[in-house]
Order: sequence, then structure tokens, then C-alpha cells
Amino acid sequence: MTGVTVRVPAKLNLQLAVGPPRADGYHDLVTVFHAISLFDEVAVVPAGRDGVAVSGEGADRVPADRDNLALRAVAALRAAVPAGAAEPAGVHVTITKRIPVAAGLAGGSADAAAALVACNELWDCGLSQQQLAEVGAKVGSDVAFAMLGGTAVGRGRGELLTPALAPATQYHWVLAFADGQLSTPEVYATLDRLRAAQAAQAGDPPSPARGGSARARSGKSRSPDLDAPLMSALRSGDAALVGRTLSNDLQAAAVSLFPPLRKTLAAGLELGALGALVAGSGPTCAFLARSADRALDLAASLSGAGVCRSVARVMGPVPGAAIVPSAK
Ligand code: C5P
Repeated sequence: MTGVTVRVPAKLNLQLAVGPPRADGYHDLVTVFHAISLFDEVAVVPAGRDGVAVSGEGADRVPADRDNLALRAVAALRAAVPAGAAEPAGVHVTITKRIPVAAGLAGGSADAAAALVACNELWDCGLSQQQLAEVGAKVGSDVAFAMLGGTAVGRGRGELLTPALAPATQYHWVLAFADGQLSTPEVYATLDRLRAAQAAQAGDPPSPARGGSARARSGKSRSPDLDAPLMSALRSGDAALVGRTLSNDLQAAAVSLFPPLRKTLAAGLELGALGALVAGSGPTCAFLARSADRALDLAASLSGAGVCRSVARVMGPVPGAAIVPSAK
């Protein structure tokens, strides 16, 4: 086999409810992942030793050494090949990026997921998607979802997935890309600090589990819950209801680190979006539109409003990482 190419989607979180920090530094989540039609492409070919080349959107900010998440995924898969089997050879990985870097859209995890799917095929490992997802979870919290795609509930760090049963509704989104990046660990740490400050102000005993979600607004400090109104909106396939029930506990932290986002979110809502939220840890903003035509209008107006670096129209849900058939 000469090589394998895999196309992999970005994600949004329609709900992102964040619990208190765990002993390992991660936070327990309840999230509703939603794969969108913004794809990176990852190609692998046999090589003397592992290497990576990155081109496209934000390529100069992606490490081109062993810190690259796709190369880390390759190494993790090699280590997971059962004892006794031949050690898989080296690979050269070529990543063509359309998903912006450090934008809250899980581009790095997507590239890792694509590399796993590609090498599983190239090396004829025969691992199931579940087994690949377990390998991927060691590389990044969103890797398992980038393989699964669709709309799914994530728990734990985000790696424990249950597909959401929903009608085949296609949602039309406009993404507003920011002129800058946010560091995911910094956004989580800022959320912890904001919650601690709120608790101190309220005279509560230290309790980090407070924030923007329904759970947090209720004042209760415990593990996050799946948002029933969002799930019911998704089951109904009613975009207006979905738009009203989007939520992201990381949003306040992202906005405090990147204040121009407040203006971007407000502009999208004023221009008629059904709902708006920061994507994951940001700084991308996502706006839900009623139809493809409304998304087109919204994208044009947002772009003219000067509240972001650029815009893109995408649809969701889309399938997870998939091998691109070769041209032959
Ligand atoms: O798993 P991933 O590498 O994508 O996570 C990046 C960082 O985001 C982690 O190092 C951690 O600081 C933060 N994170 C977290 N809780 C999660 C997922 C990510 O605190 N559930």
C-alpha cells in the first residue's frame, strides 16, 4: 500500500458543562459534541522514520516535531500493537489544515484521530474504532469524538461517548474566527479562578463548580448534568429551540481572556442568529442560523461588521474521520 489519506472534521460543543478540577488536572465534563463540515486532511506514507509536514490555515503554529499530536498518535498506536506482531515501520504524515489552530475547534485532536485511522489502515492493524478511541484518548480529550463524528454526549474528560439519538436534521452554522488564539489549559484555569472568586464573594466555602450552566445557576456544586432542554430540542430537530439552549461553561473565561468576543457574540445575535456561543475554549464564535440562506446573509453581515478575522459557513452534524478513497 502506498499511502492512506483521511478527512477529519472540527467540532463544536452545543453544551459544555465543566465540573471542578480533578486530581490529575483535568475537569470532568458533560458535553454535547457536534461534528461540523470544516475538515483537515491527513495523509500517511511509509518512511524510514516518523516525520510530519503541515500546510494550510495556521500551519506555522503547529509543531512539526514529536510534539505534533498526529505524530504522538502514531507513536501511541505503534506502542499499542500487540506483542509478537511486527513493529510497524516509520511514516511520513502530511497535514493539510483548514481547522484553525488553538481556536476551540479541536483541530489538534482531529489530526491525531485522522493519523490513527490512517495508520490503522496502512499497517493493517485491524483495531476497532473503540480500540482506536482508547489509544486516542491518551493523546487528547477530543480524539475519540473526532473519530465518531455526528452528535454525541461526552463524559469524563470528554472521551467517554454516547451517540445522541436525533433526527437527521442538518444545522447551518456560521463560524467567526478571531484574530488570535487561546490556550485551552489557560481557559480552564481562568474558569477555576472565576468560580473561586464568585464563591468567595458569596461567602461560600471554596467550591469551584460554579459557572454559566443551568447547574451552576441553580447554585449547586456537584458534577455537571446533561442539559435536558438541549437534548429535547435536538430530538425535535427545531433549530430555534437548539439555538436557545446552547451553553458553554468556558465562555465567561474565554471572554475574560479575549474581551473582543463579547462584541462578536452580540453582533451575531443582533444580526438574527438563533443562538451564539464560544466554541469550546475559544476564541472562535459559532452562530446557528435558521437555513442555508440565513447563514449566507449572516456570514456576509458578520464579515462586514468587522468583529472577527474571517467567517466560514459550515453544516453539522457530519461523520467522523474517514478514509478518502484513492483516485485510482
Ligand atoms: O486533552 P487535551 O490535550 O485536549 O486537553 C488540553 C488541556 O485542557 C488539558 O491539559 C487540561 O488543562 C484542559 N482540559 C481539562 N479538562 C478536560 C479537557 C481538557 O482541564 N476535560
